[in-house]
Amino acid sequence: MTWWRRVEAADGVAVAPSILSADAAKLGAECAAVRAAGADLLHVDVMDGHFVPNLTYGPHVARSVAAACDLPLDCHLMVEDPAAYAPRFLEAGATSITFHWELEIDHRELLESLRQAGARPGLVVNPSTPLDSRIRDLLPLCDIFLVMSVHPGFSGQSFDPVALPKLQKLRQWRNEDGLDLALEIDGGIDRETAPQARAAGADILVSGSTVFGSEDYQGIVAELRGQSAN
Ligand code: DX5
Ligand code: ZN
Repeated sequence: MTWWRRVEAADGVAVAPSILSADAAKLGAECAAVRAAGADLLHVDVMDGHFVPNLTYGPHVARSVAAACDLPLDCHLMVEDPAAYAPRFLEAGATSITFHWELEIDHRELLESLRQAGARPGLVVNPSTPLDSRIRDLLPLCDIFLVMSVHPGFSGQSFDPVALPKLQKLRQWRNEDGLDLALEIDGGIDRETAPQARAAGADILVSGSTVFGSEDYQGIVAELRGQSAN
C-alpha cells in the first residue's frame, strides 16, 4: 500500500482533483464530493502572483480543507520563496509539498528540512525544463516528483506531450536507483490524455477542469484511473 493511494485494492494510478477548478464558494462540499467519488488526494495549487501570474490560496485555506476532508493534501507551491511558505502549509495539514526546480534556491536543503519536519517533499519541472543529472541526484530526497504538462498558472490549458518522455525517464531512474518515489503529472489531463500519462508511468494524475467540470465525479474519476465506474 502506497501513501498516495486510498483504496487498498486499487491498482493503477491515483487521481488528485485540483481544487483550483472547484466552486470556491462551496469548497468543503466539493472536497467531500470528490472524496465520495473515489479521489485519492486533493491537489492544492498555491500561486503567489510572482512565480506565476495568478493568485490563489494561503495556508488558511489549506487548513480549512484539511479540517473538512481527510484526503491527503498535495500542495503544489508555485511561489518564488517556497522555503518561507512550505512550513506554513505543512503546519496547516499538507501531506506532500512540491516546489519548482526552476527556482534558484537550495533545493537540497529545503527537501531535507521538509522531510525532517514530516512532509513528503518533492520537486516540480515545467514543460520547458529538461531532466538532468542534478535532478537525478536529488530524487532520493523526494517522495514525489511532479512533471508539468502545461505551463503553470491556470487550469483548463491543453496538454503538452513533452511530459511523457520525462515520466518514462523518471520511471527508469526510479528502477535503476531503487527509489520509493511517486510520479505525478499535472495539466490538461482528460479522457484522451490520461491513458497516455498512465502508459508513460504516472502514479498520480492531477485533474482540475476535467473532474470539476464533469456532471459525474465518480464516473470521471474512474475513467481517468482507467476503470469503468461500475
Ligand atoms: C496549473 C496547476 C494545475 C491545474 C490543472 O498551474 O498546477 O494543477 O489546476 O488544471 P487542469 O486539469 O484543468 O489542466
Ligand atoms: Zn498543480
